[in-house]
Amino acid sequence: MSKKITIKWSSQAKKTGQKFAVISCYDYTSALLAAKCPIEMLLVGDSAAQFMLGFESTKDVPVDYMLNITAAVSRAAPNLLIIADMPYQASVSAIEQIVKYTQRFINEGGADIVKIEATKNDIETIRTVADAKVPVMAHIGIRPQSENFAAQATTAETAVKLIALAKQMVEAGSAMLLLEGIAEQAAAIITKSVNVPVISCGSGPGCDGQVLILPDILGLTDGPKPKFSKSFANVGDACVEAISSYAQQVKKGLFPDDAHCYHMKPGEAEKLNAILK
Ligand code: KIV
Repeated sequence: MSKKITIKWSSQAKKTGQKFAVISCYDYTSALLAAKCPIEMLLVGDSAAQFMLGFESTKDVPVDYMLNITAAVSRAAPNLLIIADMPYQASVSAIEQIVKYTQRFINEGGADIVKIEATKNDIETIRTVADAKVPVMAHIGIRPQSENFAAQATTAETAVKLIALAKQMVEAGSAMLLLEGIAEQAAAIITKSVNVPVISCGSGPGCDGQVLILPDILGLTDGPKPKFSKSFANVGDACVEAISSYAQQVKKGLFPDDAHCYHMKPGEAEKLNAILK
């Protein structure tokens, strides 16, 4: 069994320049598959709202659902670093309640760190969670919970602000950072100027690690995708083919065949017929 990936491990990876790969996934079976790959971290993202529950917005995902899927992913991949995503419905609570939710993601969800979408208004939240000894990761840049999907830090002026915000998050106790949709030049500067590991979600190659969501990597869904997302296979087509073969075999009476049926013990079918006569 390989060694558990920890936040300490990722700090060491940052120091030595070893890049790490992160996947956002939402269930036990996918996490088992991911754990067979050279992946270091699993993020149980609130994008589950769209990909698992069919909601329009990440804001709609229930907190208990996120807790349950975080626990499922942790059970599948105990040796990977598990990042819980603090859902919107928990983030809008009072600060004491936010701390309690983050503790539940660690204690019940089995997560190693809790990611919180944050602006300058949330610096005290990050500080309070960190002071409560809950490992916390500030997620800055595009924040899907705010429903603003425009690329960030695309001008010098906005980049300066975002670089300052990243430093403030780390000063407040953020043990790692996630940068989403930030211009690569600014993201690279942030990564160099903070001493904590930085994960890029569409923020270019200069960060310490990269995250993509599993449905995009596998090519499971059609429709528009963010500029930064990339499919590495077309598993969606393979799924449609497999499900269609099953349906056709059912319709033609070819499935189930003898190999996929249980049978009565020898002589018992004849006995049953005699009883029923
Ligand atoms: O919800 C999610 O999957 C995320 C991303 C950063 C990929 O937060």
